[in-house]
Amino acid sequence: MAGVDYGERIPNNVNLSENRRLHRALEEWQPKFLHWWADMGPAGFQTKDVYLRTAISVDSQGWAHFDYLKMPDYRWGIFLAEPEPGRQVYFGAHKGSPAWQEVPGEYRGVLRRLIVTQGDTEPASVEQQRFLGQTCPSLYDLRNLFQVNVEEGRHLWAMVYLLDAYFGRDGREEAEALLKRRSGDPDKPRILGAFNEKTSDWLSFFMFTYFTDRDGKYQLASLAESGFDPLSRTCRFMLTEEAHHMFVGETGVGRIVQRTCELMRAHRTDDVRKLGGIDLPTLQRYLNFHYAVSLDLFGSEISTNAANFYTAGLKGRFEETKKDDDHRLTDGTYQVTTLDGDRIVTREQAALTSLNERLRDDYIADCARGLARWNQIIKRAGIDFELRLPHRGFHRAIGTFAEAKVSPDGRVITQAEWDARHHEWLPTEEDQTFIVSLMQPVTERGKFAGWIAPPPRGINGQPIGFEYVRQV
Ligand SMILES: [Fe+2]
Ligand SMILES: [Fe+2]
Repeated sequence: MAGVDYGERIPNNVNLSENRRLHRALEEWQPKFLHWWADMGPAGFQTKDVYLRTAISVDSQGWAHFDYLKMPDYRWGIFLAEPEPGRQVYFGAHKGSPAWQEVPGEYRGVLRRLIVTQGDTEPASVEQQRFLGQTCPSLYDLRNLFQVNVEEGRHLWAMVYLLDAYFGRDGREEAEALLKRRSGDPDKPRILGAFNEKTSDWLSFFMFTYFTDRDGKYQLASLAESGFDPLSRTCRFMLTEEAHHMFVGETGVGRIVQRTCELMRAHRTDDVRKLGGIDLPTLQRYLNFHYAVSLDLFGSEISTNAANFYTAGLKGRFEETKKDDDHRLTDGTYQVTTLDGDRIVTREQAALTSLNERLRDDYIADCARGLARWNQIIKRAGIDFELRLPHRGFHRAIGTFAEAKVSPDGRVITQAEWDARHHEWLPTEEDQTFIVSLMQPVTERGKFAGWIAPPPRGINGQPIGFEYVRQV
């Protein structure tokens, strides 16, 4: 393994100590990052010991080192997956040439934009989740929230490393700007819509980590295919951490579903709200919302930008190297679901300009797998209810469906029908008030809020009642 110098302030496997210019740029950025973390990171708990996983190297032993740690002391490091000897650009016009170790001059602007857009989502989600610690349903969940937060901080570091190391002065300016935008701020918002929404309760947090972190997985996976090798290696390592974020989402929603079903059975009622549970139709409405805003993150169905990223060799398809075709896509076609007046139709489109839609299709299939597991929990409880992914056209703000109102079952509907029925489909103010009313902190060891079941097991082999966040 390439030498990680544990004595350095910035743990890394990129030989930082040998690159004085880069070292200095990052050392200058670090206090600004810590300042941002103090201002915009988790509110409270900064002096508490949290049982956290830290990446101290990229090998199988080192990337998941568990210990108690105060969050500001987390070692936000810079880790790239090990290089693949002889790696080539695997797709697009440069297919077959050696992967780039430096930024190709002609793609400098687009590549920087891709990195900044990805990088911006990382601090944004920390900002969105800032106040959740104060209403945690258990110490176990509190620790998971903080784990996700410190790792999103590390992902910001990873992107800032690329900007500082490969983009000179403009890169440094972008690195500063990443700490200046603020989620939800009308004057200096984060770049992407979903990252300006509020995450004001734990149901939203679990939906966010299920649906929106999963968008992150697909974006990172397609950037991991990049011909720009440092970006590829950075994203490959980030994906190992991202898996835990989606685990938090899937198991979080699953445990809510389980608790709801237990209440429904024990009290023979659908109305679990009066028992302090979250009813299944409310879960469906939150799911609809988070799914729709996450689908928007993939961009327009037909996109020349996406085609250009691919042809340039900068952003591939999900699992590009496993695809059985020419990896140039100049003659291929792809089936795209689109709007034709007031009808939804499927059309054959050029494969290259349909890449956003193809990635969205991969994402949708992945989302459906978790829903099937949640539905198993409901089915095992003998309850006749099924959670569903709404139609991809539902409640969209980007792409062809932004022009229409589409019901969750995929009908183009009138504005009047939308106005009359949207409260059945999206969280209402009343839903939000109710969910927020449930958000009372539970910080006693081994205890869980009444609206969520305990997990089947703890973190890293520890018991469920372990003191994941120390009280003193
Ligand atoms: Fe991330
Ligand atoms: Fe994440």
